[in-house]
Amino acid sequence: MTTPIIEMHNITKTFGAVSALKKVNLRLMPSEILGLVGDNSAGKSTLMKVLTGAYQRDSGEVLLDGQPTHFKSPHESRDRGIEMIYQDFALCGNMDVGQNIFLSRWPKRFGFFVDRPRMYTDARAVLERLKVDVNSVFQRVESLSGGRQQSVAIARAISFNPRVVIFDEPTANLSVVATDRLLQTMTELKRQGVAQIIISHRLTDIFEVGDRIMVLKRGENVGERYIAETTEKKVLELIVSGTPEPGLSPAILRSV
Ligand SMILES: Nc1ncnc2c1ncn2[C@@H]1O[C@H](COP(=O)(O)OP(=O)(O)OP(=O)(O)O)[C@@H](O)[C@H]1O
Ligand SMILES: [Mg+2]
Repeated sequence: MTTPIIEMHNITKTFGAVSALKKVNLRLMPSEILGLVGDNSAGKSTLMKVLTGAYQRDSGEVLLDGQPTHFKSPHESRDRGIEMIYQDFALCGNMDVGQNIFLSRWPKRFGFFVDRPRMYTDARAVLERLKVDVNSVFQRVESLSGGRQQSVAIARAISFNPRVVIFDEPTANLSVVATDRLLQTMTELKRQGVAQIIISHRLTDIFEVGDRIMVLKRGENVGERYIAETTEKKVLELIVSGTPEPGLSPAILRSV
């Protein structure tokens, strides 16, 4: 039996009168790509922010490698190997690619001078590992296309050597070519053993790279399927008309 890298049990989160998450369960296995889908306001981003510690849960349990954890902030989850890439990337447009990848932790020489050669060499190494083509590590980020900016955001995340990467709507604003490049990057990360969660409204993207797909509706689990055993049409039905599944779904139990 393989221990899941991440388990979330009975996660509840409310914002005032809004119940964003109602006893939600999630399981992520090592090297797995899990698609997280559901209509607007289903609770997808909130669930991931609870996982990284950006939001604090009201109740429920989060396990990392089978051990209970409670991240107080995304810094804490980053220290434990969890990276989330937000939709707006949060980059500094007026700085170059290398500076952005190592933002707020530029390598220092003599503990004082920024070690620029090392920073750019390391930046190139990360981009190489991702197999992304950003022409130059000296290019200002604001001069790059949306797809390449996203590559820089991903490179920054990868430079922390994460074990888990969460993508929130990564393909929403990407061209066909940039989407294809991102899906290749995800496949490459999977090959390197990185587990990933991808939130997307584009089922086709999830069906191309994913192993499993989990559906949320109004803050509740309504279904979970192995990609190989379902179709986009069936998943769409779950998103639109699914009803809450009590406890762990058969798909989850089967993977134990
Ligand atoms: N910081 C917040 N303050 C108040 N309400 C919030 C906050 N974050 C999320 N919510 C509410 O929680 C619910 C779930 O929102 P969430 O952003 O998780 O949905 P989502 O599935 O990511 O939707 P989308 O596909 O539109 O991104 C919504 O009703 C939203 O308004
Ligand atoms: Mg969202």
